[in-house]
Amino acid sequence: MQLGIDDLAFATADRYLDLADLAPVHGVEVAKYTVGLGQDRMSVCAPDEDVVTLAAAAALPLVESLSEAELASVRTVLLATESGIDQSKSAGVYVHRLLGLPAASRVVELKQACYAGTSALQMALALVARNPEQKVLVICSDVARYDVGSSGEPTQGCGAVAMLITADPRLVAIEPVSGLHTTDVMDFWRPNYRTTAVVDGRLSLRAYTDSLTGAWQDLQAQGGPAFGDIDAFVYHQPFTKMAVKAHAHLTRVAGTARDAEVMDAQIADTLRYNREIGNSYTASMYIGLASLLDHAAADLAGARIGFFSYGSGSVGEFFTGVVQPGYREHLRAAAHRRLLDDRQRVSHAEYLEVIAPVNPVDGGEHPIEASTRSPFRLAGISGHQRVYERTAAADAAVA
Ligand code: COA
Repeated sequence: MQLGIDDLAFATADRYLDLADLAPVHGVEVAKYTVGLGQDRMSVCAPDEDVVTLAAAAALPLVESLSEAELASVRTVLLATESGIDQSKSAGVYVHRLLGLPAASRVVELKQACYAGTSALQMALALVARNPEQKVLVICSDVARYDVGSSGEPTQGCGAVAMLITADPRLVAIEPVSGLHTTDVMDFWRPNYRTTAVVDGRLSLRAYTDSLTGAWQDLQAQGGPAFGDIDAFVYHQPFTKMAVKAHAHLTRVAGTARDAEVMDAQIADTLRYNREIGNSYTASMYIGLASLLDHAAADLAGARIGFFSYGSGSVGEFFTGVVQPGYREHLRAAAHRRLLDDRQRVSHAEYLEVIAPVNPVDGGEHPIEASTRSPFRLAGISGHQRVYERTAAADAAVA
């Protein structure tokens, strides 16, 4: 029995900053971002958007395309995030209500930096293996924020991916062998009292590639596929140039001949969406998968994909999946393109204004002006409670 990803959709904020508008503020050439980091734009959340609204927007098309009986078989929702909105309550429970999911389900939030979505995927596969009649909704949702003016600022972004994990999946069957690597390193973290992450950028690049080496070597020790048996590689993409660096590194570690054209073909389609979205932490690698499936000119049916998921701190996992015959009929490529093209460009001054509001801590009434055109919004914070609502855009998105 094959197990894997049956359906996949992503969402992002409906505004973006073009990095050509950030470069002069940092006093650098725009090529530093477009070439050096491999980023063109970054999505910017409005004050009424957060990981809950992004997650619900990503999952909405999946949920709407299920029959009532199929919906009842979604008995688990796993939400991965490292930019959570509560220390106790899972963001997934808000999403569960916004999507009208059945009460007969379990919902939890998972955390280990950008890696947590992969732990959710593996746990989902284990649950489906135990009962193939059940489906698991995995959602990865994050808002990547660094201090204004810091070197991390051009690598911000936000986004969410929703994946339905089932038996006999229509998109990608995940293979059982994984390579794993965990080590305690302080390359990126966010203490509970901070709203932005603390990052040692240079160390994080080294920690990423060390983790890739460790996970790859473990994959080989566990009997996983050889480098030459993998057709395309999807890496975690804090900025897309990191995937290019990672692929060059892995090619070296695997002892494979370096052919620039072949190496480019193995990753190029995975980078297209993230160049425009920026970092979405847990969602980033799976947006890379959407990018590959949506853009590949050739039919990928039967192709084996290698995935490297990395979460600072750090945990890395290398695993593989095989693209299923007929997958193209189940892609959401047109909706993904529309989502990115419909975003509004903000100026640098507007970007600063949009990210300025901080969450009130006084327990009072704090309505938030309607701003996003997304299907769900944060309507306010009242008595320490976050109040979410569905917008008219939800009905339009479904129609
Ligand atoms: N044209 C083309 N490329 C240029 C350039 C120009 N005018 N100016 C600089 N560059 C290149 C640099 O050579 C470098 O490329 P290289 O690493 O291949 O040598 C790249 O642009 C970045 O320049 P650098 O000076 O290293 O950038 P930085 O010190 O401002 O910070 C990060 C880069 C990634 C460390 C920083 O953005 C960061 O901390 N990001 C968040 C952390 C993160 O995402 N970590 C990833 C692990 S999950």
